[in-house]
Amino acid sequence: MLTGNEVRASSRAQHALPSPIRKLTPLADRARDEGVHIYHLNIGQPDLLAPEALMAGIRDYRSGLLPYAPSAGLDDTVAAWQAYYEQIGLDLDRSELLVTLGGSEAVLFALMAIADPGDEVIVFEPTYANYFGFAVMSSVGIAPIALRSEDGYHLPAPEEIESRITPRTRAILFCTPGNPTGTVYTPSELEMLSDIAERHSLFLISDETYREIVFEGPRDTSMLKLARTAGRTIVVDSVSKRFGATGARIGCLASRHPGVMEGVLRFAQARLSAPTVEQRAVIPLLHDPRPYTDPLAEIYRSRRDVVYAHLRDIEGVQVRRPEGAFYIFAVLPIDDGERFASWLLTDFRLDGETLMISPGDGFYLTPGRGTQEVRFAYVLEEPALERAMTILREALRVYPGRTGA
Ligand SMILES: Cc1ncc(COP(=O)(O)O)c(C=O)c1O
Repeated sequence: MLTGNEVRASSRAQHALPSPIRKLTPLADRARDEGVHIYHLNIGQPDLLAPEALMAGIRDYRSGLLPYAPSAGLDDTVAAWQAYYEQIGLDLDRSELLVTLGGSEAVLFALMAIADPGDEVIVFEPTYANYFGFAVMSSVGIAPIALRSEDGYHLPAPEEIESRITPRTRAILFCTPGNPTGTVYTPSELEMLSDIAERHSLFLISDETYREIVFEGPRDTSMLKLARTAGRTIVVDSVSKRFGATGARIGCLASRHPGVMEGVLRFAQARLSAPTVEQRAVIPLLHDPRPYTDPLAEIYRSRRDVVYAHLRDIEGVQVRRPEGAFYIFAVLPIDDGERFASWLLTDFRLDGETLMISPGDGFYLTPGRGTQEVRFAYVLEEPALERAMTILREALRVYPGRTGA
């Protein structure tokens, strides 16, 4: 019961947006309780088994002690990230690397290290929605720039990006291969970002969580390879997607900027340590990733082909073939993505089955954008994806809010 003297949660707490992906969970729970089978295309949780070497590393931890690791990461884990980058042609000093709690913490640390409260970063929308949450946590503003479905969510012209730069802009934050679009920026797009950053004295925060999951275009790229702007680049990295190990909570922040790395180390010291056992377990994978990541990329390519072929074939759906990650973002002939995704869970069944998808508007900060778009995460095996696409086709045929789009 509130009284006249009640304590109030901060405006930051009040303004944090709920995850667009988890919003529909209660509806899915209810459908499941009614015995409905749901194909989950809504969340970026890989269905593939984590590498055996990683799991063995967890099982084989025998010590009775479970100590903190050093704040920058276990020496051997930092060395393993260094070896990992060496394999993609990047020579990084250990002082330029810090082990984080997933890519998530690396994003938060990067924002806190390059911007003060009230500063801004440019983000291309649709974007990974948790960037909004990290911006709220760090009191950094987001200046969104819209990407277009008809361009395959590739970057707009440099003038459009530069027109959003203000005296408070500190960085451009982007993700390639992209979530939620699957778009992989071309070398010339990366060059363009590099030019803009140099011209306007900005940092580049490059989220490379999906680096290996590329179907067309160059693999093993990194923004840090662009020597001209390497000093102003911060790479966000993670084992989560490339090793199907989201629960390990191991990521990495890489930067050649000494001031950024000093600040980030102090942030890391305040949170003490990333998980000790998991840090040890990922070491062999970082030293030798390709036996796992090469087949993984092939599996996702084949699934992408299945989902894309179906979507392209459904009347009224606008979709471009994504080049990486494991997402497809599509414009559907519907009135509203959230209404449609909810209706799938509450009203629509095809032989006792339905599907769960993510409404597109949650990947935009700008109100009104993305209402006809949805994201599909192809984290199911191909027969299940085929079935899910059949369900989608039928659902779109009978959905009461269908539009002519
Ligand atoms: C683009 C992107 N960046 C970062 C993350 C964070 O992942 P994690 O904290 O598991 O490394 C995700 C997870 O979905 C993501 O899609």
